[in-house]
Amino acid sequence: MKTSLSCVLLWAGLAVAASSYESSFLVQARQSTRQKLWTRDDSDPKCTKDIPCKIGCCGPLDKDTGVGICGLGPTFCGDGCTSSCDYKSECDPGWGMQWSNASTCPLNVCCSDFGFCGTTDEFCKGKEVSVPQCDPAANSSHARTVGYYEGWNWQRPCGTMKPSQIPLGYYSHIFFAFSLLDPTTFRLSPMDTETGTLYGDVSAIKNRQPGVQVWIAIGGWAMNDPGPTRPTFSNLAKDEAAQDEFFEALVTFMMANDYDGVDIDWEYPVADDRGGSVEDFDNYVNLLKRLRARLNSIGVPKGLSITLPASYWYLKGFDIVNLEPYVDFFNVMTYDIHGVWDSTVQSLGPYAHAHTNLTEIEEALKLLWRNNINPERVNLGLGFYGRSFTMKDPSCMAAGCEFSSGGNGGSCTGTPGVLSAHEIVQIINNGATVTTDEVAAVEIVTWDTNQWVSWDSTKTLAMKVNYANERCLGGVMVWAIDLDDGTLIKSLADTGRPTYNYLTDLPWMTGCFGSAFDDWSRLNDSDIDSGSS
Ligand SMILES: *[C@@H]1O[C@H](CO)[C@@H](O)[C@H](O)[C@H]1NC(C)=O
Ligand SMILES: *[C@@H]1O[C@H](CO)[C@@H](O)[C@H](O)[C@H]1NC(C)=O
Ligand SMILES: *[C@@H]1O[C@H](CO)[C@@H](O)[C@H](O)[C@H]1NC(C)=O
Ligand SMILES: *[C@@H]1O[C@H](CO)[C@@H](O)[C@H](O)[C@H]1NC(C)=O
Repeated sequence: MKTSLSCVLLWAGLAVAASSYESSFLVQARQSTRQKLWTRDDSDPKCTKDIPCKIGCCGPLDKDTGVGICGLGPTFCGDGCTSSCDYKSECDPGWGMQWSNASTCPLNVCCSDFGFCGTTDEFCKGKEVSVPQCDPAANSSHARTVGYYEGWNWQRPCGTMKPSQIPLGYYSHIFFAFSLLDPTTFRLSPMDTETGTLYGDVSAIKNRQPGVQVWIAIGGWAMNDPGPTRPTFSNLAKDEAAQDEFFEALVTFMMANDYDGVDIDWEYPVADDRGGSVEDFDNYVNLLKRLRARLNSIGVPKGLSITLPASYWYLKGFDIVNLEPYVDFFNVMTYDIHGVWDSTVQSLGPYAHAHTNLTEIEEALKLLWRNNINPERVNLGLGFYGRSFTMKDPSCMAAGCEFSSGGNGGSCTGTPGVLSAHEIVQIINNGATVTTDEVAAVEIVTWDTNQWVSWDSTKTLAMKVNYANERCLGGVMVWAIDLDDGTLIKSLADTGRPTYNYLTDLPWMTGCFGSAFDDWSRLNDSDIDSGSS
């Protein structure tokens, strides 16, 4: 009797706020699981005797309709709960730990009243994150200009860049991307035979730009694609004997090829859609701790950095607070924030958004500030490429309009949905329409009735460098050196970033700056290497 009375009262109280409660719960549950969750009638979070909740406990059933509402905490999972009553919330908004998996949220994000973790106002209710503030004129980010070099770029039919063509004087660090790891021996293994012949050619840059650091980047997105190398990082991180094998191979590699550091590109620990496992979170810290100790034992300083994703979803798999002491810096991939994959994310859908939107980059970096990461240890990622779409309706070509697929592949990069800066410059020169979004600090280029790409131009890169300085960041990081035709890296220098001395008295260096860059697309083996070997 007592129970049923309280159920009636409970239901009456809930009914008043039911519709706003239901929509908020649904939105938060979707964000918390991100995608593809509720395909069957996902119009509301209701449950009946036969249809349990997908997320949460089915609260008391309404006497007349036989329908209950899904939720978390004592109201739904406690007395009168209908089914899935032991479902625990992601975080504890104050109910007590028996109702929750954890007291707080990953990365110190906000715990909503409904027990979900998130960063938007719906979760945080006005709580602000305090962000680093510097005078942009102090040029904090000028300390480092890191550039990744895609070792496999020779595979493109045009727009390639040989190691000897890497522009000198602009980068403080050049990262060779990538070496892979052998899934059984944990030794370094080249992406392919040809790419594996280029390690020494890249470090040879040190003969021409004294003081430039050349590091090996290990991993990359594709290493965690389905296939034999998918579990390799997870296996390495949990196995100290495997780590020792890796360390010896790495040290031998660095000594033999004259490399100054190593960058680990594990994309991504813990993420179940990337082959990760829960233990990666702690194991990655142990891996880096031991790697740092091994590098320190060499006796010559060797650098260590890792890449970080710019999204809560993937970054929550990194124990950034405990990783920080072992790295020289973090390279934050503040690009690819949007792309064709948005169409499969329920909360986003097939709408064209800029992939390097400064508003969203600011939100992403707040994940670091929530955890007191030292901004001096952070490099802001700059994309020297665009993410492109084929738009659905040629009369709707603004950001936010619907796309039907990735943009047409470029003449050199040949992959739908992406265009190199080199290709975008040519498209603009051929008369495309260019609009600058001053708030998002991005440029949107449209052409051929339905083609759309967002990228960073000379102008928006300057805005991003200024932003990096405002946030006291210790550097910028470029993906990728070889996607540029020389325009963008030169424009970075034009923002007042430092340039470095280099030697010009070698035959293939003549005219390296400025006009010669325009010729990259026409260069080929006979042009370039005739004088170099
Ligand atoms: C709580 O943990 C359980 C078991 O690990 C998991 O199945 C469930 O999805 C978690 N709840 C939330 C809201 O994340
Ligand atoms: C940039 O991001 C903000 C916040 O998500 C959004 O409102 C805006 O439309 C975006 N701009 C572009 C050009 O994608
Ligand atoms: C910052 O860079 C600008 C542009 O090169 C330069 O004029 C200025 O003196 C620099 N400021 C400091 C504090 O070094
Ligand atoms: C390479 O360049 C030379 C001279 O510039 C040209 O004759 C030759 O056809 C080019 N080869 C290729 C494969 O493009």
